Amino acid sequence: MDKKQVPISFTINGKKMTRQVNPSLLLIHLIRDELKLKGTKPGCMEGECGACTVIVDGRAVNSCLYLAVNIDGKQVNTIEGLSTVERPLHPVQHKILEHGAVQCGFCTPGFVLSIKAIGDECVEQGIVPSRKEIAKELEGHLCRCTGYVKILDAAEDYLAHPILQNSSDHG
Ligand code: FES
Ligand code: FES
Repeated sequence: MDKKQVPISFTINGKKMTRQVNPSLLLIHLIRDELKLKGTKPGCMEGECGACTVIVDGRAVNSCLYLAVNIDGKQVNTIEGLSTVERPLHPVQHKILEHGAVQCGFCTPGFVLSIKAIGDECVEQGIVPSRKEIAKELEGHLCRCTGYVKILDAAEDYLAHPILQNSSDHG
C-alpha cells in the first residue's frame, strides 16, 4: 500500500464504499473527481459560499474545508442522494421550484441540503424554526441570482412541515 494513502470506509447516498485517500484530499474532490457526483458545486473553495455543502452524519458541512479522511465511518449525503426512482425530487426541491427560488441553480444543491438538514434536526427536536432563525442558519450560503426572499420563502414553507429521513435512506 502507498504509505501516503489512508484507507477509509463510508456510506454515501446509502451506498457503502471503501477508498484509499491522500490525507490532504478535500471531500469535495473525492465527491466530484473520484466519485463523479457533480451536483456538489465548487464555488469560493474558502468556506464562504455554501455551494459545496453536503451532509455528513446529519450535519451540513462545507466539503471544500472538510478532509475526505474525516468521513471514515460516517454517512454522507449529496444532492444526488435525495432522488429515488419513486421520488425524483425531494420535498425541499419541490418547494424551491414552487416559490421560483432558482435561476442558474449553482447555489441550489447547497441550499437544498442545508434546508433538509435543518428540517431533520427540527423534526427530531419537535420545533418549527422562525424565519429569522432559518435566515441565520442559511447565512453561509450565497446566491448571485435569485435573491434570498424566495429561497427563504421556500425554506420557511418546507420547514413548517419537514419530512424526517435518516441519512442512510438515500434521502
Ligand atoms: S466552495 Fe465551499 S463554501 Fe464555497
Ligand atoms: S440561483 Fe444562481 S447562484 Fe443562486
